[in-house]
Amino acid sequence: MTSSLDLKDITKVFPDRKTGHEITAVTGMSFSVKPGELVAVVGPSGCGKSTILNMVSGLYGPSQGEVLINGEPVRSTRSDVGFMLQKDLLLPWRNIVSNVEFGLEEKKLTRKERRDRALSEIDRVRLSEFAFHYPHQLSGGMRQRAALARTLAIDPEIVLLDEPFSALDAQTKVVLQKSFSATIAETGVTCLLITHDLQEAVIMSDRVVVLSGRPGTVVDEFPIDLPHRDDPMARSMEPGTRDYVKRLFDTLHLEDQAA
Ligand SMILES: Nc1ncnc2c1ncn2[C@@H]1O[C@H](COP(=O)(O)OP(=O)(O)O)[C@@H](O)[C@H]1O
Ligand SMILES: [Mg+2]
Repeated sequence: MTSSLDLKDITKVFPDRKTGHEITAVTGMSFSVKPGELVAVVGPSGCGKSTILNMVSGLYGPSQGEVLINGEPVRSTRSDVGFMLQKDLLLPWRNIVSNVEFGLEEKKLTRKERRDRALSEIDRVRLSEFAFHYPHQLSGGMRQRAALARTLAIDPEIVLLDEPFSALDAQTKVVLQKSFSATIAETGVTCLLITHDLQEAVIMSDRVVVLSGRPGTVVDEFPIDLPHRDDPMARSMEPGTRDYVKRLFDTLHLEDQAA
């Protein structure tokens, strides 16, 4: 299944219990993700990226504006939105297949159907050999692949990825970006990828949305007109990639910032 996602003029204000003031995390934010599209969102730390994902998953609503999935407002937490974070959140006492089955337990499936579904997702992320291993027996990259299998096992309408590669070393990251992109392209699922890695945004997405500092709002948005969305390594070799990365670098005014 694959769905559209629309953020329509979203503002989110949080109360700040310490100061009694309010914090506006995002303001007047609008953008859309078409069915099957992968949109990358980049922006400075604290500009409301995780807040957006929480609103899409229905954890809480916007203060103003609307989040629409297939044209329907999101009103509560949704079981058809898959979430993946920087931390894999695998349960250490469950083996990989049982971790992947976890999200399926509230679905009406027999044990055999659940097991078959889990094993086929594990096969898709090339972890069949490790299906009966425990998370601590796997590398960081393998654990993130297991987390992706768990996310996809619920057959989500939309997958939200919140900096899923940022805790990995540089080489593992490249390998994982490649296997994620191939898997995501194979499923055709709609994706929102939060990242602070500008190169990653360009090589993995169909379109990039650039946010301002807090309160976050859209300051730039453009399609990535390059081949190989299913193969970031190949796309990184394309001559046009550098220009897109430069555009992001310039829009975010990174040259003005002292490290
Ligand atoms: N539940 C919350 N209560 C109060 N303030 C919050 C809450 N969640 C986020 N914020 C504030 O909103 C802003 C955006 O946070 P966040 O979405 O996590 O940013 P990002 O993911 O872009 O780094 C930050 O200033 C943060 O402190
Ligand atoms: Mg965040």
